[in-house]
Amino acid sequence: MRRKSYLCFLTITMAVIFLLMFVMYSTMTAHSAASERRKDFHILGRPLYKLDASWPKSSEYFTGDVFGVAVNHLAGLVYVAQRGDDVPKVLVFTTDGDFMQAWNTTTLEMPHGIFLANASSDPTVWVTDVGNGPYGHTIKQYSPSGKLLQVLGSPGKAGSGLSPLQFDQPSEIFVHDPTGEIYIVDGDGGMNNRLIKLSRDLQMLWMHGEKGQGLAQFDIPHSVAVDNSQRVWVADRRNKRIQVFNSVTGDWLGSWGSCFMEDAPYSVRLTPDQKYLVVVQLNTNQVSLLDAPPVGIIGQCRVVSSIQLAEDIKPHLVDLDQRNGALYVAEIGAQQAQKFTPFTLGNFL
Ligand SMILES: *[C@@H]1O[C@H](CO)[C@@H](O)[C@H](O)[C@H]1NC(C)=O
Ligand SMILES: *[C@@H]1O[C@H](CO)[C@@H](O)[C@H](O)[C@H]1NC(C)=O
Repeated sequence: MRRKSYLCFLTITMAVIFLLMFVMYSTMTAHSAASERRKDFHILGRPLYKLDASWPKSSEYFTGDVFGVAVNHLAGLVYVAQRGDDVPKVLVFTTDGDFMQAWNTTTLEMPHGIFLANASSDPTVWVTDVGNGPYGHTIKQYSPSGKLLQVLGSPGKAGSGLSPLQFDQPSEIFVHDPTGEIYIVDGDGGMNNRLIKLSRDLQMLWMHGEKGQGLAQFDIPHSVAVDNSQRVWVADRRNKRIQVFNSVTGDWLGSWGSCFMEDAPYSVRLTPDQKYLVVVQLNTNQVSLLDAPPVGIIGQCRVVSSIQLAEDIKPHLVDLDQRNGALYVAEIGAQQAQKFTPFTLGNFL
């Protein structure tokens, strides 16, 4: 009898110990999965980038959904635009990952694209605002510390006008250095599907503004960049293609679709050596490098390398450090920005 109850006691004790160990093990793995999540990625194709997991030094500053990043390569600063109630809309880090400041501005509702202009002499930060409130439907220029300098568009009034300028959810702006000419994609799902070029004194130089699937028509023009060969690259999101234009005349030069059958391009940027375009695909969680074609030929696109991020990271827009090629990715799903550095030092320069 005694022996039997002893065995019974032993069995129950063992079962309890196993159960406790199992619970401890699963909480431990769940915990480490959460903290590892942001580093979970792999490379497809040529290894051109590696994650810099030390950037930023603390991720506690990310308090909203991160939509855009902009790099001042001369000052060594990274501007991160995030959304959310009662969160600072722009966070400033150094390229080494130190947190510098959060902008104390109430003039931003829902930042979308963010761009650093005129790094060499008088840097300013442009932000497109897709909000519906009294400051929305505008593109705003700020000092590096977040003082509002200039507003393009009619605050709080969605529209299609050109004089005065009106936008509906403007998605991104690119200011060409050193001419100061401005390229705007408008917009992110509103009434407009426009690519607008303005002179530095805000006169319209040319525009494509038709919605559709034909040449030079758009369906959610989402991101814009200009290369050193007078070509304008536009991520034409819902048409799942990138369209290319002559920056001087506005003439249509070509279109890339075959690389984006699975998921649309969300961003366009160029590496400092102008050899690759950097394109993000949000739904497939990829950041890809595509061969930039030689002048005069657009041809077909070719993906050379991709960073495959984990599911639900949702990369949205990117920017590159023009001094060393470092790549910063704004991730809506992961609510953070990440830094990737060239695998080989001096690559992309
Ligand atoms: C932020 O702005 C408000 C209103 O202008 C001001 O009262 C406050 O002192 C500012 N805070 C910081 C940290 O600059
Ligand atoms: C860049 O800054 C300089 C110095 O303030 C200014 O003269 C120039 O107009 C600016 N360029 C652009 C493109 O804004």
